[in-house]
Amino acid sequence: MYSTGSRLRITLFGRSHNECIGCIVEGLPKGMRIDFDNVQRMMDQRKPSDGIGTPRKEPDAVIFEEGVTDGCVSSDKVLIKIMNTNRKSSSYSGFNVTPRPGHADLPALMKYENFDVSGGAQFSGRMTAPLVAAGAIAIQFLMEKGIRIAAYTKRIYDVIDDSDHTFEEIESSRGFRTRAIGEQLDSKMADAILEASKDGDSVGGVVGCMVTGLQPGFGGIWFDALDVTLAKMMFSIPAVKGVEFGKGFGLAGMKGSESNDQYYIKDSKISALSNNMGGICGGMCDGMPLVFDVAFKPTPSISKKQRTVDLNEMKDATIEIGGRHDPCIVPRAVAVVEAMTALTVMDQYLSDQKY
Ligand SMILES: Cc1cc2nc3c(=O)[nH]c(=O)nc-3n(C[C@H](O)[C@H](O)[C@H](O)COP(=O)(O)O)c2cc1C
Repeated sequence: MYSTGSRLRITLFGRSHNECIGCIVEGLPKGMRIDFDNVQRMMDQRKPSDGIGTPRKEPDAVIFEEGVTDGCVSSDKVLIKIMNTNRKSSSYSGFNVTPRPGHADLPALMKYENFDVSGGAQFSGRMTAPLVAAGAIAIQFLMEKGIRIAAYTKRIYDVIDDSDHTFEEIESSRGFRTRAIGEQLDSKMADAILEASKDGDSVGGVVGCMVTGLQPGFGGIWFDALDVTLAKMMFSIPAVKGVEFGKGFGLAGMKGSESNDQYYIKDSKISALSNNMGGICGGMCDGMPLVFDVAFKPTPSISKKQRTVDLNEMKDATIEIGGRHDPCIVPRAVAVVEAMTALTVMDQYLSDQKY
Protein backbone atom coordinates (compact mmCIF):
# COMPACT_ATOMS: atom_id res chain seq x y z
CA MET A 1 0.00 0.00 0.00
CA TYR A 2 1.28 3.42 -0.97
CA SER A 3 -0.14 6.65 0.48
CA THR A 4 0.01 10.35 -0.31
CA GLY A 5 -1.82 13.57 0.59
CA SER A 6 -2.54 15.47 3.75
CA ARG A 7 -6.25 16.39 4.07
CA LEU A 8 -7.23 14.32 1.03
CA ARG A 9 -5.37 11.06 1.50
CA ILE A 10 -4.99 8.44 -1.20
CA THR A 11 -3.80 4.89 -0.52
CA LEU A 12 -3.11 2.77 -3.58
CA PHE A 13 -3.18 -1.05 -3.47
CA GLY A 14 -2.94 -4.14 -5.68
CA ARG A 15 -0.88 -5.14 -8.70
CA SER A 16 -1.54 -5.32 -12.41
CA HIS A 17 -2.00 -9.11 -12.38
CA ASN A 18 -3.78 -9.45 -8.99
CA GLU A 19 -7.52 -10.02 -8.97
CA CYS A 20 -8.06 -6.26 -8.54
CA ILE A 21 -6.40 -2.92 -7.99
CA GLY A 22 -7.83 0.04 -6.13
CA CYS A 23 -7.44 2.92 -3.75
CA ILE A 24 -8.83 4.22 -0.47
CA VAL A 25 -9.77 7.92 -0.54
CA GLU A 26 -9.90 9.66 2.83
CA GLY A 27 -11.13 13.21 3.37
CA LEU A 28 -13.96 13.55 0.85
CA PRO A 29 -16.73 15.71 2.32
CA LYS A 30 -19.55 13.56 3.72
CA GLY A 31 -22.75 13.99 1.75
CA MET A 32 -20.96 14.87 -1.51
CA ARG A 33 -22.93 13.36 -4.41
CA ILE A 34 -20.75 11.44 -6.84
CA ASP A 35 -21.44 11.75 -10.55
CA PHE A 36 -20.79 8.09 -11.53
CA ASP A 37 -21.25 8.79 -15.27
CA ASN A 38 -18.54 11.41 -15.12
CA VAL A 39 -16.20 9.04 -13.26
CA GLN A 40 -16.71 6.43 -16.00
CA ARG A 41 -16.27 9.04 -18.75
CA MET A 42 -12.88 9.96 -17.34
CA MET A 43 -11.95 6.26 -17.06
CA ASP A 44 -12.78 5.93 -20.75
CA GLN A 45 -10.33 8.75 -21.55
CA ARG A 46 -7.54 6.58 -20.00
CA LYS A 47 -8.46 3.57 -22.14
CA PRO A 48 -6.21 2.63 -25.08
CA SER A 49 -7.40 3.62 -28.56
CA ASP A 50 -7.28 1.08 -31.39
CA GLY A 51 -3.89 0.96 -33.11
CA ILE A 52 -2.17 3.59 -30.97
CA GLY A 53 -2.69 1.85 -27.59
CA THR A 54 -2.14 -1.58 -26.05
CA PRO A 55 -4.45 -4.33 -27.37
CA ARG A 56 -5.05 -5.28 -23.69
CA LYS A 57 -8.67 -4.24 -23.23
CA GLU A 58 -10.12 -3.82 -19.75
CA PRO A 59 -13.68 -2.64 -18.97
CA ASP A 60 -12.30 -0.63 -16.01
CA ALA A 61 -15.71 -0.53 -14.34
CA VAL A 62 -15.31 1.41 -11.10
CA ILE A 63 -16.71 -0.36 -8.04
CA PHE A 64 -17.44 1.80 -5.00
CA GLU A 65 -16.96 -1.00 -2.49
CA GLU A 66 -17.31 1.04 0.71
CA GLY A 67 -18.07 4.58 1.86
CA VAL A 68 -20.73 5.53 -0.70
CA THR A 69 -24.44 5.19 0.08
CA ASP A 70 -27.26 6.19 -2.27
CA GLY A 71 -24.74 7.93 -4.54
CA CYS A 72 -23.26 10.08 -1.76
CA VAL A 73 -20.07 9.92 0.29
CA SER A 74 -21.15 8.40 3.61
CA SER A 75 -17.87 7.68 5.41
CA ASP A 76 -14.38 9.08 6.06
CA LYS A 77 -13.03 6.36 3.79
CA VAL A 78 -14.19 5.57 0.27
CA LEU A 79 -12.91 2.26 -1.12
CA ILE A 80 -12.61 2.14 -4.91
CA LYS A 81 -11.96 -1.20 -6.65
CA ILE A 82 -11.28 -2.08 -10.30
CA MET A 83 -11.11 -5.73 -11.41
CA ASN A 84 -8.23 -7.02 -13.53
CA THR A 85 -10.20 -9.14 -15.97
CA ASN A 86 -7.61 -9.53 -18.74
CA ARG A 87 -4.37 -11.01 -17.39
CA LYS A 88 -1.66 -12.93 -19.25
CA SER A 89 1.12 -13.54 -16.74
CA SER A 90 2.89 -16.06 -19.01
CA SER A 91 4.02 -13.23 -21.33
CA TYR A 92 6.06 -11.84 -18.46
CA SER A 93 7.70 -14.91 -16.85
CA GLY A 94 11.01 -14.49 -18.76
CA PHE A 95 11.53 -10.96 -17.44
CA ASN A 96 12.31 -12.39 -13.97
CA VAL A 97 15.53 -13.71 -15.53
CA THR A 98 16.17 -11.29 -18.40
CA PRO A 99 14.87 -7.91 -17.14
CA ARG A 100 13.46 -5.38 -19.60
CA PRO A 101 15.71 -2.36 -20.16
CA GLY A 102 13.93 0.85 -19.16
CA HIS A 103 11.36 -0.89 -16.94
CA ALA A 104 11.41 -1.41 -13.17
CA ASP A 105 12.23 -5.15 -13.51
CA LEU A 106 15.96 -5.06 -12.70
CA PRO A 107 15.91 -2.75 -9.66
CA ALA A 108 12.75 -4.43 -8.29
CA LEU A 109 14.27 -7.94 -8.64
CA MET A 110 17.38 -6.70 -6.80
CA LYS A 111 15.35 -5.02 -4.06
CA TYR A 112 12.56 -7.50 -3.27
CA GLU A 113 12.99 -11.21 -2.55
CA ASN A 114 10.91 -13.49 -4.84
CA PHE A 115 9.63 -10.50 -6.80
CA ASP A 116 7.43 -11.44 -9.77
CA VAL A 117 7.40 -8.86 -12.58
CA SER A 118 4.05 -10.12 -13.98
CA GLY A 119 2.25 -7.29 -15.70
CA GLY A 120 4.80 -4.84 -14.33
CA ALA A 121 3.35 -5.68 -10.87
CA GLN A 122 2.94 -2.58 -8.67
CA PHE A 123 5.04 -0.57 -11.15
CA SER A 124 2.50 -1.01 -13.95
CA GLY A 125 0.81 1.93 -15.64
CA ARG A 126 -2.40 0.05 -14.84
CA MET A 127 -2.09 1.24 -11.25
CA THR A 128 -3.12 4.68 -12.52
CA ALA A 129 -6.69 3.45 -13.21
CA PRO A 130 -8.00 3.86 -9.61
CA LEU A 131 -6.17 7.19 -9.39
CA VAL A 132 -8.16 8.41 -12.38
CA ALA A 133 -11.40 7.33 -10.67
CA ALA A 134 -10.43 9.19 -7.47
CA GLY A 135 -9.27 12.17 -9.55
CA ALA A 136 -12.63 12.34 -11.32
CA ILE A 137 -14.29 12.86 -7.92
CA ALA A 138 -11.74 15.58 -7.06
CA ILE A 139 -12.43 17.29 -10.41
CA GLN A 140 -16.13 17.31 -9.58
CA PHE A 141 -15.42 18.83 -6.13
CA LEU A 142 -13.16 21.52 -7.63
CA MET A 143 -15.60 22.40 -10.42
CA GLU A 144 -18.17 23.27 -7.79
CA LYS A 145 -15.59 25.76 -6.40
CA GLY A 146 -14.99 27.27 -9.86
CA ILE A 147 -11.63 25.51 -10.37
CA ARG A 148 -11.22 23.72 -13.71
CA ILE A 149 -8.52 21.37 -14.97
CA ALA A 150 -7.73 20.22 -18.51
CA ALA A 151 -4.71 18.61 -20.18
CA TYR A 152 -3.71 17.73 -23.74
CA THR A 153 -0.97 16.14 -25.79
CA LYS A 154 1.61 18.79 -26.55
CA ARG A 155 4.19 16.58 -28.18
CA ILE A 156 4.63 13.06 -29.48
CA TYR A 157 8.16 12.23 -30.62
CA ASP A 158 9.00 14.95 -33.21
CA VAL A 159 5.44 16.27 -33.67
CA ILE A 160 5.22 19.37 -31.47
CA ASP A 161 2.30 21.67 -30.69
CA ASP A 162 4.08 24.87 -29.62
CA SER A 163 1.03 27.18 -29.68
CA ASP A 164 -0.40 28.79 -26.56
CA HIS A 165 -3.92 27.47 -25.98
CA THR A 166 -7.03 28.66 -24.21
CA PHE A 167 -8.69 26.42 -21.64
CA GLU A 168 -11.51 25.67 -24.08
CA GLU A 169 -9.04 24.57 -26.78
CA ILE A 170 -7.32 22.27 -24.30
CA GLU A 171 -10.68 20.79 -23.32
CA SER A 172 -11.44 20.11 -27.00
CA SER A 173 -8.59 17.54 -27.06
CA ARG A 174 -11.05 15.14 -25.36
CA GLY A 175 -12.53 14.49 -28.80
CA PHE A 176 -9.26 13.18 -30.28
CA ARG A 177 -7.67 9.76 -29.80
CA THR A 178 -4.16 11.15 -29.23
CA ARG A 179 -5.59 13.98 -27.08
CA ALA A 180 -3.99 16.48 -29.47
CA ILE A 181 -5.71 19.79 -30.13
CA GLY A 182 -7.20 19.61 -33.62
CA GLU A 183 -7.50 17.07 -36.40
CA GLN A 184 -4.22 17.87 -38.11
CA LEU A 185 -2.03 17.37 -35.06
CA ASP A 186 -4.05 14.32 -34.04
CA SER A 187 -3.40 12.69 -37.37
CA LYS A 188 0.35 13.54 -37.37
CA MET A 189 0.78 12.34 -33.79
CA ALA A 190 -1.11 9.11 -34.48
CA ASP A 191 1.14 8.51 -37.51
CA ALA A 192 4.27 8.99 -35.36
CA ILE A 193 2.97 6.36 -32.93
CA LEU A 194 1.96 3.91 -35.68
CA GLU A 195 5.30 4.28 -37.45
CA ALA A 196 7.24 3.48 -34.28
CA SER A 197 4.91 0.60 -33.46
CA LYS A 198 5.29 -0.96 -36.95
CA ASP A 199 9.03 -0.89 -36.41
CA GLY A 200 8.71 -2.71 -33.04
CA ASP A 201 9.56 0.54 -31.28
CA SER A 202 7.88 3.15 -29.05
CA VAL A 203 7.80 6.96 -28.66
CA GLY A 204 7.44 9.42 -25.80
CA GLY A 205 6.02 12.92 -25.56
CA VAL A 206 4.74 15.76 -23.44
CA VAL A 207 1.39 16.42 -21.73
CA GLY A 208 0.46 20.06 -21.12
CA CYS A 209 -1.92 20.93 -18.27
CA MET A 210 -3.86 24.07 -17.30
CA VAL A 211 -5.79 24.91 -14.12
CA THR A 212 -8.04 27.97 -13.99
CA GLY A 213 -10.03 29.57 -11.17
CA LEU A 214 -7.32 29.47 -8.49
CA GLN A 215 -7.23 32.66 -6.40
CA PRO A 216 -3.93 34.54 -5.95
CA GLY A 217 -2.29 33.16 -2.81
CA PHE A 218 -3.67 29.64 -3.28
CA GLY A 219 -1.01 27.09 -2.38
CA GLY A 220 1.51 26.35 0.34
CA ILE A 221 5.02 27.20 1.37
CA TRP A 222 8.27 25.26 1.31
CA PHE A 223 7.61 21.50 1.33
CA ASP A 224 3.87 22.08 0.84
CA ALA A 225 4.23 24.59 -1.99
CA LEU A 226 1.83 24.03 -4.89
CA ASP A 227 4.61 23.40 -7.44
CA VAL A 228 6.39 21.06 -5.00
CA THR A 229 3.33 18.91 -4.35
CA LEU A 230 2.31 18.89 -8.02
CA ALA A 231 5.80 17.85 -9.12
CA LYS A 232 5.78 15.02 -6.58
CA MET A 233 2.43 13.75 -7.84
CA MET A 234 3.46 14.05 -11.50
CA PHE A 235 6.70 12.16 -10.89
CA SER A 236 4.62 9.43 -9.20
CA ILE A 237 3.09 8.63 -12.60
CA PRO A 238 5.06 5.78 -14.19
CA ALA A 239 7.26 6.88 -17.13
CA VAL A 240 7.37 10.58 -16.16
CA LYS A 241 10.88 11.99 -16.54
CA GLY A 242 10.33 15.74 -16.40
CA VAL A 243 8.00 18.43 -15.03
CA GLU A 244 8.26 22.05 -16.09
CA PHE A 245 6.22 25.03 -14.81
CA GLY A 246 5.64 27.83 -17.30
CA LYS A 247 8.75 28.36 -19.42
CA GLY A 248 10.63 26.02 -17.04
CA PHE A 249 14.11 25.20 -18.31
CA GLY A 250 13.72 27.98 -20.89
CA LEU A 251 13.91 30.55 -18.04
CA ALA A 252 17.57 29.65 -17.60
CA GLY A 253 18.31 31.33 -20.93
CA MET A 254 16.36 34.54 -20.27
CA LYS A 255 17.12 37.82 -18.56
CA GLY A 256 14.99 38.96 -15.60
CA SER A 257 13.59 41.74 -17.76
CA GLU A 258 12.32 39.07 -20.20
CA SER A 259 11.20 36.41 -17.71
CA ASN A 260 9.33 38.47 -15.08
CA ASP A 261 5.58 38.47 -15.60
CA GLN A 262 4.90 42.20 -15.18
CA TYR A 263 1.63 43.17 -13.53
CA TYR A 264 -1.08 45.50 -14.75
CA ILE A 265 -4.73 46.19 -13.98
CA LYS A 266 -7.28 44.62 -16.31
CA ASP A 267 -11.02 45.11 -15.67
CA SER A 268 -10.22 46.26 -12.08
CA LYS A 269 -8.27 43.06 -11.41
CA ILE A 270 -4.51 42.36 -11.18
CA SER A 271 -3.26 40.57 -14.27
CA ALA A 272 0.15 39.98 -15.90
CA LEU A 273 1.55 40.72 -19.34
CA SER A 274 2.94 37.16 -19.71
CA ASN A 275 2.81 33.81 -17.88
CA ASN A 276 6.43 32.63 -17.94
CA MET A 277 6.19 31.39 -14.33
CA GLY A 278 3.23 29.15 -15.13
CA GLY A 279 1.03 30.94 -12.59
CA ILE A 280 3.14 30.09 -9.52
CA CYS A 281 5.43 32.34 -7.49
CA GLY A 282 6.66 31.38 -4.02
CA GLY A 283 4.70 28.14 -4.21
CA MET A 284 1.41 30.06 -4.50
CA CYS A 285 -0.77 31.07 -7.41
CA ASP A 286 -0.14 34.56 -8.75
CA GLY A 287 -3.55 34.87 -10.38
CA MET A 288 -2.53 33.70 -13.84
CA PRO A 289 -3.67 30.25 -15.00
CA LEU A 290 -1.54 27.44 -13.59
CA VAL A 291 0.34 25.97 -16.56
CA PHE A 292 2.81 23.08 -16.57
CA ASP A 293 4.19 20.36 -18.84
CA VAL A 294 4.94 16.72 -18.03
CA ALA A 295 7.46 14.72 -20.10
CA PHE A 296 6.90 11.00 -20.67
CA LYS A 297 9.63 8.67 -21.88
CA PRO A 298 9.01 6.17 -24.70
CA THR A 299 7.33 2.97 -23.48
CA PRO A 300 10.12 0.68 -22.24
CA SER A 301 8.59 -2.63 -23.50
CA ILE A 302 9.42 -2.79 -27.21
CA SER A 303 9.67 -5.78 -29.52
CA LYS A 304 12.89 -4.59 -31.16
CA LYS A 305 15.88 -6.69 -30.17
CA GLN A 306 17.81 -5.20 -27.22
CA ARG A 307 20.69 -6.16 -24.99
CA THR A 308 20.04 -7.25 -21.41
CA VAL A 309 21.51 -9.72 -18.92
CA ASP A 310 20.63 -13.28 -17.84
CA LEU A 311 20.41 -13.03 -14.05
CA ASN A 312 20.63 -16.83 -13.52
CA GLU A 313 23.75 -17.29 -15.61
CA MET A 314 25.15 -13.78 -14.99
CA LYS A 315 25.99 -13.39 -18.64
CA ASP A 316 25.00 -11.09 -21.50
CA ALA A 317 21.69 -11.85 -23.21
CA THR A 318 19.27 -10.35 -25.73
CA ILE A 319 15.55 -9.70 -25.38
CA GLU A 320 12.66 -9.22 -27.80
CA ILE A 321 9.54 -8.30 -25.85
CA GLY A 322 6.20 -9.76 -26.85
CA GLY A 323 2.94 -9.19 -25.01
CA ARG A 324 0.55 -6.26 -25.17
CA HIS A 325 2.08 -2.84 -24.68
CA ASP A 326 1.30 0.78 -25.46
CA PRO A 327 3.55 2.02 -28.28
CA CYS A 328 3.09 5.45 -26.69
CA ILE A 329 1.93 6.17 -23.15
CA VAL A 330 1.07 9.84 -23.70
CA PRO A 331 -2.52 9.71 -25.08
CA ARG A 332 -3.65 7.59 -22.10
CA ALA A 333 -1.56 9.60 -19.63
CA VAL A 334 -3.43 12.85 -20.33
CA ALA A 335 -6.36 11.73 -18.13
CA VAL A 336 -3.86 10.57 -15.49
CA VAL A 337 -2.21 14.02 -15.40
CA GLU A 338 -5.66 15.63 -15.04
CA ALA A 339 -6.56 13.25 -12.20
CA MET A 340 -3.28 13.67 -10.30
CA THR A 341 -3.56 17.45 -10.66
CA ALA A 342 -7.09 17.37 -9.25
CA LEU A 343 -6.04 15.22 -6.27
CA THR A 344 -3.17 17.64 -5.50
CA VAL A 345 -5.24 20.80 -5.88
CA MET A 346 -8.13 19.40 -3.81
CA ASP A 347 -5.71 18.38 -1.06
CA GLN A 348 -4.28 21.92 -1.01
CA TYR A 349 -7.78 23.41 -1.10
CA LEU A 350 -8.77 21.39 1.99
CA SER A 351 -5.45 22.16 3.72
CA ASP A 352 -5.41 25.88 2.99
CA GLN A 353 -6.47 27.73 6.15
CA LYS A 354 -7.86 30.63 4.14
CA TYR A 355 -10.44 28.54 2.31
C1 LIG B 1 -1.02 4.82 -18.61
C2 LIG B 1 0.32 4.12 -18.67
C3 LIG B 1 0.48 3.00 -19.47
C4 LIG B 1 1.70 2.35 -19.55
N1 LIG B 1 1.82 1.26 -20.38
C5 LIG B 1 3.02 0.61 -20.45
C6 LIG B 1 3.15 -0.53 -21.30
O1 LIG B 1 2.23 -0.95 -22.00
N2 LIG B 1 4.37 -1.14 -21.33
C7 LIG B 1 5.45 -0.70 -20.60
O2 LIG B 1 6.54 -1.28 -20.67
N3 LIG B 1 5.33 0.38 -19.80
C8 LIG B 1 4.16 1.04 -19.70
N4 LIG B 1 4.05 2.13 -18.87
C9 LIG B 1 5.27 2.65 -18.21
C10 LIG B 1 5.82 1.80 -17.08
O3 LIG B 1 4.82 1.53 -16.13
C11 LIG B 1 7.04 2.52 -16.44
O4 LIG B 1 7.93 2.93 -17.42
C12 LIG B 1 7.76 1.59 -15.48
O5 LIG B 1 6.94 1.31 -14.38
C13 LIG B 1 9.08 2.15 -14.96
O6 LIG B 1 8.86 3.33 -14.23
P1 LIG B 1 9.58 4.68 -14.68
O7 LIG B 1 9.46 4.76 -16.14
O8 LIG B 1 8.82 5.76 -13.97
O9 LIG B 1 11.01 4.60 -14.24
C14 LIG B 1 2.81 2.80 -18.77
C15 LIG B 1 2.64 3.93 -17.94
C16 LIG B 1 1.42 4.60 -17.89
C17 LIG B 1 1.27 5.82 -17.02
